[in-house]
Amino acid sequence: MDILEFYGLKEDPFRLTPDPVYFFPSASHSEALLSLNYVVQQKEGFCLVTGEPGTGKTTVINVFKESWRDKAETALVLTPRLSPEEFLLSVLEDLNVKLTTTNKNDILKAFRDFLVEKSQIGKPVIIIVDEAQNLPDETLEELRLLSNLETYKDKLLQIILIAQPELEKRLNKDKLRQLSQRITVRARLTPLQSDETLEYINYRLIKAGKGFLRLDGGLSKPIYKFSAGIPRIINILASRAIMSAYLEGSNIVTKKHVRYAIRHLKGGVMGVEIKRRSKLVYALSVIILSIITGAAGYYYLVEQKGIPNLPKVESPVQVPHDTKDTTQAIKSATEGPSPAETEQKGTIEKQEQRKTATVISNSANLRSGPSLNSERVAWTQKGAILEIIDEFKEATGKRWYKVKVPDGREGWIADKVVSKD
Ligand SMILES: Nc1ncnc2c1ncn2[C@@H]1O[C@H](COP(=O)(O)OP(=O)(O)O)[C@@H](O)[C@H]1O
Ligand SMILES: [Mg+2]
Repeated sequence: MDILEFYGLKEDPFRLTPDPVYFFPSASHSEALLSLNYVVQQKEGFCLVTGEPGTGKTTVINVFKESWRDKAETALVLTPRLSPEEFLLSVLEDLNVKLTTTNKNDILKAFRDFLVEKSQIGKPVIIIVDEAQNLPDETLEELRLLSNLETYKDKLLQIILIAQPELEKRLNKDKLRQLSQRITVRARLTPLQSDETLEYINYRLIKAGKGFLRLDGGLSKPIYKFSAGIPRIINILASRAIMSAYLEGSNIVTKKHVRYAIRHLKGGVMGVEIKRRSKLVYALSVIILSIITGAAGYYYLVEQKGIPNLPKVESPVQVPHDTKDTTQAIKSATEGPSPAETEQKGTIEKQEQRKTATVISNSANLRSGPSLNSERVAWTQKGAILEIIDEFKEATGKRWYKVKVPDGREGWIADKVVSKD
């Protein structure tokens, strides 16, 4: 009888493939997904998700891609060591854009036409680059130029970079600073917390059918201590521990089996990871500390220089300022009247009594004025309670509320994303 039969499992619960079916929505993974969805829904240009190896970056991307499968066109680049030209061609191939030319300007024009066509039918186009730390500088620069493709209102293209944290350092270099400024949403995947570790193991077991396999209490501590909450290491460790239980013919995995697995892995494939662990534990402590010491208001509002664990909004709506590149011609061709030229008509209604509104959509923008064309000054998340200061009714009947967030900042929010208390 093999191990799966013995435990009555449908499949190996701890396979190392980034399978969306096994996706465990930890706090950090959920946060990252929220950021990714926000980028597409709000038509932001660039998003960067970073995380140490094994923290679940590819898994999150697979879940995200799956959820947008029928609603968006996505190109996924998994081998980013490509020159700018190779990169562009690989993206276009993934998106099924037929090319009849090798001239770069014509290729870009074909791409622009494709983007405009998709924009007209409301289908977002998303480029995802996994392991983006491997992109050469010139290819990163090409991506920035591609992100110049936009209409007067929206970005036509959303670009998501998934990378190890070292990319952040590279982006600070002079050469890539322009690109860095374009990245309006950032999220960091952190390892699982200690209480999430056992939940994660149980979750995967249940997905695989669970069967007759039981976990003894008290496994959480040694597993967390060894893995520092990194899912890939948890998977390897759990697999070994189950194997050790199986060899004994036991249907309960105990501390003894985990200790055996740890001994087995030490000095083996995990050697490097173990050395890394102390660094990770330190990083985790810093993150936890910063969250504890952060003002309560940060829970609702992500600041311009935000908490590492939360998606950050680096700057409001981006205005491309590079006029020398080839995409400028494309931009001019798609440009309409500037947002400032479209003035909002309606009436301001002062609030007599103190009223509040609760954010009901996953995330919502706060703008400098009661109009979609106004600059975005911040964003809030579902459940945030905002004090209403003013109310604005558009000629069309649509309402906006001027609200105050817990840290004292003010902005306008559309009524459809809040419920008035
Ligand atoms: N949130 C999660 N839910 C379920 N499994 C996860 C999660 N995060 C990571 N894993 C598992 O951990 C392993 C490594 O994940 P992966 O996405 O490949 O990490 P990375 O791309 O950051 O190196 C995979 O086996 C994956 O299934
Ligand atoms: Mg990966």
